[in-house]
Amino acid sequence: MKIGILGSGPVGLALGHGLVRLGHAIMLGTRDTQKPTLQTWLAESGPNGHLGSFAESAAFGEALFLCTGWTGTRKAIESAGLWNFRKKVVIDVTNPLDGKGPDAEGRLELAPGNSPSGGEQVQAWLQDAHVVKALNTVGNSLMVAPHLKEGIPTMFIAGNDTLAKKAVADLLSQMGWQDVVDIGAIEMSRCLEALCVLWCAYGFRTGSWGHAFRLLRE
Ligand SMILES: NC(=O)c1ccc[n+]([C@@H]2O[C@H](COP(=O)([O-])OP(=O)(O)OC[C@H]3O[C@@H](n4cnc5c(N)ncnc54)[C@H](OP(=O)(O)O)[C@@H]3O)[C@@H](O)[C@H]2O)c1
Repeated sequence: MKIGILGSGPVGLALGHGLVRLGHAIMLGTRDTQKPTLQTWLAESGPNGHLGSFAESAAFGEALFLCTGWTGTRKAIESAGLWNFRKKVVIDVTNPLDGKGPDAEGRLELAPGNSPSGGEQVQAWLQDAHVVKALNTVGNSLMVAPHLKEGIPTMFIAGNDTLAKKAVADLLSQMGWQDVVDIGAIEMSRCLEALCVLWCAYGFRTGSWGHAFRLLRE
């Protein structure tokens, strides 16, 4: 599948590496294709790896991952061109953090507070696309092949379109997620983004970042 990844930070690169390994054709979208990390990724990726602007990446992908820092997300979407998102599945990995860092307890703040969520905001910006919140509740090193000593975690997803969520669940399954839980419409991003705050708080408290959430059932 042709996939566009908007954003070339740790998340974009982790997804780029993992999805190329799974045989997908990937274009990483960035403002600066000359960054050494990106040139290294390109050299390692073979014929399935491509670099481009946000617009080129969004046009390239049949499905798109949104992996931008929150404060740059709207600008990145605008420079990608709204028409390039039309009718596509957009996997929103962003967390709308306010960028001020943790307080003494290790708590980060979400810029919009809890309502509306970043996921709802992204869906409002991309009214013609099917936005699915996913992968925002785990660190980038576990986004593909999420194998932990204690098992495979759960991935929660939220979005308004059932078919889009099915497509995302299928892709996540290829990426190694065996337990994908559809938690409802895009407004349920409010819960998923709060989970990121909890995930980070545990990381700040313990100094370890290789953890993830798993839903245990009776
Ligand atoms: N790090 C994690 O493990 C993790 C886990 C789950 C979710 N997330 C979320 O995923 C997103 C990406 O995180 P990240 O750690 O990979 O990197 P990041 O540093 O938060 O974001 C990097 C990307 O954002 C783009 N960007 C920043 N400011 C911009 C602006 N003004 N205009 C256009 N683009 C801009 C950058 O574009 P250029 O390529 O042009 O520099 C870069 O590609 C964030 O929302 C984060 O909260 C992160």
